[in-house]
Amino acid sequence: MPIKGIDTEKCTNCQQCLQDCPSFNFRLSDDNQVVFFQVGCVQCGHCIAICPEDAILYEGMKDEPLSFEDVDPTSLISYDTFLKFIRGKRSIRQYKKKKIPNEIIDKIMYVMRYAPTGGNIRGLRCNIISDDEQIKALSEAVLDTLIGNPAIPENYSLMLKRKRKQGLDPIFYGASHVMIFHSPNPMDLVNSVIAITHGLLSAQTLGIGSCWLYLAQRALIDNKDLRKNVAKINGRVHGVFVLGYPAVKYARGPPRPKIRTKKLN
Ligand SMILES: Cc1cc2nc3c(=O)[nH]c(=O)nc-3n(C[C@H](O)[C@H](O)[C@H](O)COP(=O)(O)O)c2cc1C
Ligand code: SF4
Ligand code: SF4
Repeated sequence: MPIKGIDTEKCTNCQQCLQDCPSFNFRLSDDNQVVFFQVGCVQCGHCIAICPEDAILYEGMKDEPLSFEDVDPTSLISYDTFLKFIRGKRSIRQYKKKKIPNEIIDKIMYVMRYAPTGGNIRGLRCNIISDDEQIKALSEAVLDTLIGNPAIPENYSLMLKRKRKQGLDPIFYGASHVMIFHSPNPMDLVNSVIAITHGLLSAQTLGIGSCWLYLAQRALIDNKDLRKNVAKINGRVHGVFVLGYPAVKYARGPPRPKIRTKKLN
């Protein structure tokens, strides 16, 4: 397990790790000293993050901590800036014929690793398809699975058929990269949604457009052959989205109704 204990030379016995550990892995010894004893570490790293003395001993966390000595992360982005950014996030369905460099894709993947997950499980995987021919083949196979499928509303089915006839891609919209999140764990469905949301917002900071694709996800869930042989996935498909350079610009954010909220006191 990555958390190994406390560096007693550095520890000032402030008890912050004891108060913050969600798995109660710290306690007070008979002489009132905080000690580490592991009952069930979820590897959330809260002890590493909170210790003012950097006294937590660990190894094998597969990443380095990020110091906030020079900046308070809560003051980096104002509410107004954040709101504008969020309201500027559109599902992009018109893309330029231009591939995204690998280092940009890597940056988007990098952000997604920092999304929270239930129980801090870290089993998500992502298959990326960037070859235009493969994207086209996948799109055709998705259309074959969806058109006439009773699980899909009839008007959707007709729309897909019409667009296909017009030579358009109503599944991936000509985007340059198809991203498929998967894992064997059904719990990862919600984790995947959160990770993808983080990724899509980070993509926007890099000028990259994106769109969630439930239709493709549905087809990959329903069609084992497509999932295994085309998308090369053995586990469960939790989310599909595309990335690409937008060929569209929006002048304003659209209106959205309020979330109906009951304040129960
Ligand atoms: C879907 C989901 C469910 C969660 N449920 C709980 C919960 O019931 N109790 C809890 O203390 N934390 C819960 N968490 C928080 C996770 O344990 C936490 O995100 C994870 O340990 C990583 O820590 P961080 O969010 O501080 O980075 C949940 C997180 C997610 C994404
Ligand atoms: S990593 Fe999280 S669960 Fe594990 S000891 Fe530290 S705070 Fe507790
Ligand atoms: S947070 Fe750090 S300094 Fe404080 S008791 Fe825990 S290990 Fe010691």
